[in-house]
Amino acid sequence: MSNLLIAPSMLASDFANIQRDVEMINHSQADWFHIDIMDGVFVPNISFGIPVCEAINRHATKPLDVHLMIMQPERYLESFRKAGAEILTVHYEACPHLHRTIQQIKDLGAKAGVALNPHTPVQVLQDVIADLDLVLIMSVNPGFGGQKFIEYTYKKIKQAVALIEQSGSQAVIEIDGGVGTNNAALLYEAGARALVAGSSVFNSPNPTQTIATLKKMT
Ligand code: DX5
Ligand code: ZN
Repeated sequence: MSNLLIAPSMLASDFANIQRDVEMINHSQADWFHIDIMDGVFVPNISFGIPVCEAINRHATKPLDVHLMIMQPERYLESFRKAGAEILTVHYEACPHLHRTIQQIKDLGAKAGVALNPHTPVQVLQDVIADLDLVLIMSVNPGFGGQKFIEYTYKKIKQAVALIEQSGSQAVIEIDGGVGTNNAALLYEAGARALVAGSSVFNSPNPTQTIATLKKMT
């Protein structure tokens, strides 16, 4: 069995047929629903918010992996937890009191993730890595689907693997942006254990098959 988790991003789904796309993921080999929340401030785009997350959760039979691309995410952690989030990932760049924010996520009974923008070195997580369940390395600048994968990401994955090993952390490395069947195996080899895939899944002729192909790459 593959130990690579696949998290299709609902940002690339058809919002007019969201239930259909949720069912497709339910019946596929995907592991998580990746839910991208954008506030138009931290990132230059607005996606959707709590009611849409709730609506997805009403039909989803797999965990919601909620990626908060918002300023002051601590204001909304409880709402997203109530809306079904099992993993709550905040951005390092959006949290001046990151340690406290991570504890808040854990107090809500969710898994805690921290995301890093492409310009943010992995080493900034040194003092919190032991508390994390997930490290999300952005392989594009957050805000939009369908962007080109940044090759430097491979180096960051290796650095994250070393940091996790040194600290004894159980954190899973997740990669987000420009991921598809062309680079999934290399990302796994570098140390990634969860892959977000938006356009490569939803824009493919057979999304269920593409998810199966991604899952089989290890
Ligand atoms: C980008 C989001 C991603 C996005 C990925 O800001 O965090 O999750 O949906 O889209 P693709 O897979 O199309 O690059
Ligand atoms: Zn994302």
